[in-house]
Amino acid sequence: MKFTVAIDGPAAAGKGTISRQIAARFGFAHLDTGLIYRAVGAKVAEGMTPEAAAEGLVPEDLERGDLRSLEAGQAASKVAAIPAVRAALVEFQRRFARQDGGAVLDGRDIGTVICPGAEVKLFVTASPEVRAHRRWLEVGGDASQVLAEVKERDDRDMNRADAPLRPAADAVTIDTSEMTIDAAVDAACAEVLRHQRG
Ligand code: DC
Repeated sequence: MKFTVAIDGPAAAGKGTISRQIAARFGFAHLDTGLIYRAVGAKVAEGMTPEAAAEGLVPEDLERGDLRSLEAGQAASKVAAIPAVRAALVEFQRRFARQDGGAVLDGRDIGTVICPGAEVKLFVTASPEVRAHRRWLEVGGDASQVLAEVKERDDRDMNRADAPLRPAADAVTIDTSEMTIDAAVDAACAEVLRHQRG
């Protein structure tokens, strides 16, 4: 069975939690595509060119422990604006999406570019203030700095020329600003069930 769930949205909107829960509940494989860009950004920080880092990426690169920091997120957002980097990563993501048994991919351009034919498309979002607060609970530090970083990354991801962050025309939007994570997961699972029942 091939079944793809595409989940897009800005940083810290709840995509990761929702994706993992959908994968667990329906037995789908999960790919956090942000990790791919984070891994490319980390290799570039070590001196590789963005193109070589993207073309030479191997699955083990996604398991590095230093990919979750704010700095790694900024580095990812920068390399993600380079068309040659995005192009080098398309096929891997598409193959993952069409594996047998179903797949959920979360990122910025899954429903618009990587899997425009996905059976289920969700756009998971929340206000910048709510997302910055969630990120701050995880990483601590200066709250206004965290908000500035969230806004800077949103701006870069939404305004780049190649595959900007935006909802697919046929995506269902889930705004998690005033939802508990359980309620958001339930809303997302309900969409999957609706499509599975046809
Ligand atoms: O989801 P994340 O915060 O781990 O993503 C890090 C950066 O990678 C994000 O700011 C933009 C980029 N990205 C992208 O351009 N396309 C994707 N499908 C996933 C992430």
